[in-house]
Amino acid sequence: MANHDLAVVILAAGKGTRLKSSLAKVLHRAGGRPLMEHALRACAPLGAKKTVVVVGHQAEQVSPVAESFDAEAVLQQPQHGTGHAMQVARRAIGRAKVALVLPGDAPLVRTETLKSLIATHRAGHAAATILTAVLADPSGYGRILRKSENLVSAIVEESELSEEQRELNEINSAIYCFSLDKLWPALAHLKPNNKHRELYLTDTIGTMTSAGDTVLAVVAPDSREILGCNTRADLAEVDRVFRERKRTALMDAGVTIQLPDTVLIDPEVTAGEDTVIEPGVQLLGKTKIGARCTIRSGSVLSNAQLGDDVTVEAHCVVAQSRLDAGVIIGPFARLRGDSHVKAGARIGNFVELKKSVIGEGTKAMHLTYLGDSKIGAKSNIGAGTITCNYDGFHKFPTSIGNKVFIGSDSALVAPVRIGDGAYVAAGSTITDNVPSDALAIARGRQVNKPGWASKKRRELAAAEKPGKKNGSRSPKKSKRGQRTKKRR
Ligand code: UD1
Ligand code: MG
Repeated sequence: MANHDLAVVILAAGKGTRLKSSLAKVLHRAGGRPLMEHALRACAPLGAKKTVVVVGHQAEQVSPVAESFDAEAVLQQPQHGTGHAMQVARRAIGRAKVALVLPGDAPLVRTETLKSLIATHRAGHAAATILTAVLADPSGYGRILRKSENLVSAIVEESELSEEQRELNEINSAIYCFSLDKLWPALAHLKPNNKHRELYLTDTIGTMTSAGDTVLAVVAPDSREILGCNTRADLAEVDRVFRERKRTALMDAGVTIQLPDTVLIDPEVTAGEDTVIEPGVQLLGKTKIGARCTIRSGSVLSNAQLGDDVTVEAHCVVAQSRLDAGVIIGPFARLRGDSHVKAGARIGNFVELKKSVIGEGTKAMHLTYLGDSKIGAKSNIGAGTITCNYDGFHKFPTSIGNKVFIGSDSALVAPVRIGDGAYVAAGSTITDNVPSDALAIARGRQVNKPGWASKKRRELAAAEKPGKKNGSRSPKKSKRGQRTKKRR
């Protein structure tokens, strides 16, 4: 479709009073993106000559989103309604002949639907063509008045509806195609004759049809595509539709999703064939998952990269980290800060990795913190090992070689290096480098006192004989305990 005479105009200046929020409406998120970004993405493939976004509330935050899609942001300040917004956009629209106008708060519309709207508009030589939908509950939307089966006569806003018109259930999506030689004069006629004292773009339709111009309507094939986000409940519903679309796309690509309604997946996430996603999982950001992986319940992965055959056991949190093929982590593991677990390594329960590289086949199975550390292949990190990487001011690295054995409950005070093949005895606090193949023991030496325990038991038994002390026949346990303590 040649669209070199087309301008796209997105109206995004409104505050969104009904959301009761300090954030501008079009910056609220649904389906993992700000509302306005969805509209920009749907329009991008149309190849319009120009894209204009009308900004107003929080223009300084909204404009950069527009500009990141090569759109020109035009400031509408103050906001006198959707008709006024189009007047403000006029100069930026320039010489385009046709304008596709979309609200910034109706993010579900698909490119295909926009294409068919434009095609109907062009084929019918219309002054305007409106994307409409038939809704069981039309409340909150402007209603379409039809002149005949094919022709529209006017749009009436919800606040201006007569009792009879309230029954109409074909609604205005606020997505339209306008022939600009017809729109500009109609805009000049607008008057703020309504409860909100605004200039309504919708009023231009009546002006055009009164002048004998043709206004057409295209009914959206799926009425959910036109859902607007005026309230928090609308936002939740729109988000639900986006999430469902994404899950369906992944399932179509060969991913198993159990209890799909409980799984939340951002738009840019990918997953390979035969991967299984269990209930209650969140896959966020640019997470990429290989084939035949299993992501168990309650895990949250954001900007994670997983190779093939990875298992993420239940309740893991993985952020900005990479797991190579065959890795198993969790349950209850936390990985963050560009950590990288290499092929076949194993990260167990209650293990945290921060900015750490774990070599091939290495295991850290229990209750461990590895921060700013680099660990070679086939090493074993015992339960409760802690890298002490922070002195309150700076972070320091820990380096552990290949085939190293770190005994349980060791503290490795960084900066420190443990050479290949070295052993660290359990319970050590390592402050100096350990050479390759050495054993480091850094703990108090054990002392055994022969017979101490039986002597102790005899003393305690003697002290408990009735009447021996203060004549009490049935001394309370707690008192006995206290006496014993004092004597020690
Ligand atoms: C609008 C339509 C209504 C339609 C509904 C569909 C009008 C008058 N009404 O109502 O017929 O059924 O959308 O969702 O157009 N905006 C500006 N500048 C302004 C006012 C609004 O840029 O001065 C922007 C808003 O940011 C929003 C869009 O225009 O993105 C629509 O405004 P909104 O207040 O949501 O209109 P609705 O009441 O939903
Ligand atoms: Mg709206």
